[in-house]
Amino acid sequence: MKIGDVHLPSPFAIAPMAGMTDTAFRRLVKRHGGCGLVVTEMVSSEGLVRGIDRTLEYAEYTEEERPISIQIFGGDPEKMAAAAQIVEGMGADIVDVNMGCPVPKIAKHHAGCSLMREPGHAAGVIAAMTKAVKIPVTVKMRAGWNDGERNAPTLAKMVEDAGAAAVAVHGRTAAQSYSGAADWELVAQIADALTIPVFGSGDCVDAGQIVDRMRSGIEGVLVGRGVLRNPWILAQATDLAAGRAAREVTLEERGRFLLAYVDLLRTERVWNNESRLTNPRESRVPNPESLPGHDRWVVNKLRALASWYTKGLEGGSRLRTAINHAESLSALTETIGDFFFSNSQPACADGVSQLFAPSDNI
Ligand SMILES: Cc1cc2nc3c(=O)[nH]c(=O)nc-3n(C[C@H](O)[C@H](O)[C@H](O)COP(=O)(O)O)c2cc1C
Repeated sequence: MKIGDVHLPSPFAIAPMAGMTDTAFRRLVKRHGGCGLVVTEMVSSEGLVRGIDRTLEYAEYTEEERPISIQIFGGDPEKMAAAAQIVEGMGADIVDVNMGCPVPKIAKHHAGCSLMREPGHAAGVIAAMTKAVKIPVTVKMRAGWNDGERNAPTLAKMVEDAGAAAVAVHGRTAAQSYSGAADWELVAQIADALTIPVFGSGDCVDAGQIVDRMRSGIEGVLVGRGVLRNPWILAQATDLAAGRAAREVTLEERGRFLLAYVDLLRTERVWNNESRLTNPRESRVPNPESLPGHDRWVVNKLRALASWYTKGLEGGSRLRTAINHAESLSALTETIGDFFFSNSQPACADGVSQLFAPSDNI
């Protein structure tokens, strides 16, 4: 499938998740296969335009992640167009606009999901961006602001007319946040009405659900929390879609994933800031001394992932607690080793799904 001229090797993608889908995590998921697109965490258009270091870090990616979409948020058409040009200058394949974030801090600045409340203005933002860049501009939205304003079908059509190259819909309203269930019928209805590709997002926690959702006429699925729990889920969905059994994932492999994540994070965001600003992809000068709190940052990243990764895993809450109590990197890796490698639990027979109780909800 394609978004504009960008070819995606698979219709399954990692959904953008602030605080979670950093470049290290995306690379590791991608290495396990089945991932057609990765999207960065949302990045402030204001921060990009002002060249704020922290913002630029969120937009970092590596070549192996391609095709890569950088998601930006903001509500000012000129700034969003300028930010899109910066994203294009950074070499990203796609620039995505966040119209789904319900968090008040974002929404109160006419950004995120509050853009859905001003569809004319939202379409104006997309029109300004598509005029400013050659790369495809895409939009990720929710079903609407609340039950009284479920306007995703109207807005999706408007952004298509404004030049958007694809749309992704998380079938919940901002008011719902993550409660209730995602409305996939709404997503299918939008896919039916639009000519550009439509992606659906919401509640796919096993590979079979991803494949089932593809039957509703959508072009692809963005998987969020399911990837945090099981980074192999996209590869397993690819297996199922090809008529094969989903690949097996052992407890040891799950442990190795966490250790690899620790390893990648240890060498992330520790390079020379000045040169990085000129070219974020080519000027990575490891300089661990510059960030004394770097180990702490890695430990915190692992804690955040563990809260999802251990969900439903047998003994998961014990592991979660142990990771939360690890005060150093060595304590953290030891904890991971103790759980995943010293455990006499056999490799599971039919993949990671066996590690979860059947009734396990997100
Ligand atoms: C921790 C977390 C952070 C998220 N951050 C973003 C974000 O930065 N941009 C965005 O468009 N959606 C964000 N989302 C929404 C997801 O991309 C996705 O649409 C939603 O979680 C539903 O899919 P899922 O049920 O597969 O998780 C986030 C979701 C979670 C759980």
